[in-house]
Amino acid sequence: MTVKKTIEDVEVVGKTVLVRVDFNVPFKPGDAVISDDSRIRASLGTIRYLIGRQSRVVLCSHLGRPQGRVVEELRIGPVAARLSELLGMPVAGAPDCIGSEVAGMVSALAAGEILVLENLRFHPEEERNDSAFAEALASLAEVFVNDAFGTAHRAHASTEGVARFLPAVAGFLMSRELDMLGRALAGAGRPFVAVLGGAKVTDKIVVLRQLMARVDRLIIGGGMVAAFLRAQGMEVGESLLDDDDVPVATELLSTARSQDAEMLLPEDVVVADAFSETARHRVADIAEIPPGWRIMDIGPRTATSYERALSDARTVIWNGPMGVSEWPPFAEGTARIARALARLKDATTVLGGGSTAEAVGALGLTAQMTHVSTGGGASLEYLEGRTLPGVASLMDKE
Ligand code: 3PG
Repeated sequence: MTVKKTIEDVEVVGKTVLVRVDFNVPFKPGDAVISDDSRIRASLGTIRYLIGRQSRVVLCSHLGRPQGRVVEELRIGPVAARLSELLGMPVAGAPDCIGSEVAGMVSALAAGEILVLENLRFHPEEERNDSAFAEALASLAEVFVNDAFGTAHRAHASTEGVARFLPAVAGFLMSRELDMLGRALAGAGRPFVAVLGGAKVTDKIVVLRQLMARVDRLIIGGGMVAAFLRAQGMEVGESLLDDDDVPVATELLSTARSQDAEMLLPEDVVVADAFSETARHRVADIAEIPPGWRIMDIGPRTATSYERALSDARTVIWNGPMGVSEWPPFAEGTARIARALARLKDATTVLGGGSTAEAVGALGLTAQMTHVSTGGGASLEYLEGRTLPGVASLMDKE
């Protein structure tokens, strides 16, 4: 992939800099309290760098999916307040993201001050990548920094369009994400092992194919296990299966056989008699899933064999939990993978996907990983080998 210019390759001293961040953070249900501020924390390096260079910092982000209308609960205010706490300095908020009032607030910024623009997606033009809207955003600043890796897979006005009107470079978070994911995907250290979970095999088909061609071992967990078992003629009880999942799994199994990658599937699973945290549950051999029960996690024998497959890995890519990891009775498989990765020395371990990052965070193991991506869909599309519009639009390094 072409290397992009970064914030260190352009002059930002004293300039007004528009920074696209991904402040699309989760909130506690029905509350204005942010439940996970890691995306805000991940942007601090770029923001501090700009403040230190006396830039006027104009931050913009989307929050949720308001579909082009003002939605009161999706105002950016609580996010700006959290940013202010983390930086220990005042952060101003604008009532909109474009227009003369906003332009006035930007001009009034002193060197080293920060203004956070209102949710970009209150305007339908943002997701349409409307050129006039992109130009209006660009008119606020002299330099554009894209640090929103999590939104880089969207060709929106603030990720792609705006880069046509300003010198556009990557922020520190963006360049670290590209560097780490790129390095992992190249499989610099071997054995190279990929761990993939997630509910639907069809959602992961492209990444499964991509990784199969690159890795030494491919470990499969999560809801998609059911499709692979069914493809081998096994009964999977009430496990969720879409019609198109089984033929896709069949095709992937045959591709795996024709390639060098070893594909690891569960030998045993944790099954439950209902899809509920409090359901009755037990360990079952994959050939003995009782009718009426469903797969909720990988089993203990499987976890042991997966730990073994990871024990000599030098590069690991992990996307998707092994089971319904937000419910303690079904979290053990994911926890054992996380601990196996944390034990690896001299290995590059790169994680992507919201629920994987959350599970590892809940175990207190984030710091033991080489890199935990802030991107869900973006990291998956990167691993699929797709061009991310928010990256492609940035200036190339000579
Ligand atoms: C994400 O949370 O994955 C990004 O912020 C992108 O959000 P979106 O899926 O609503 O475009």
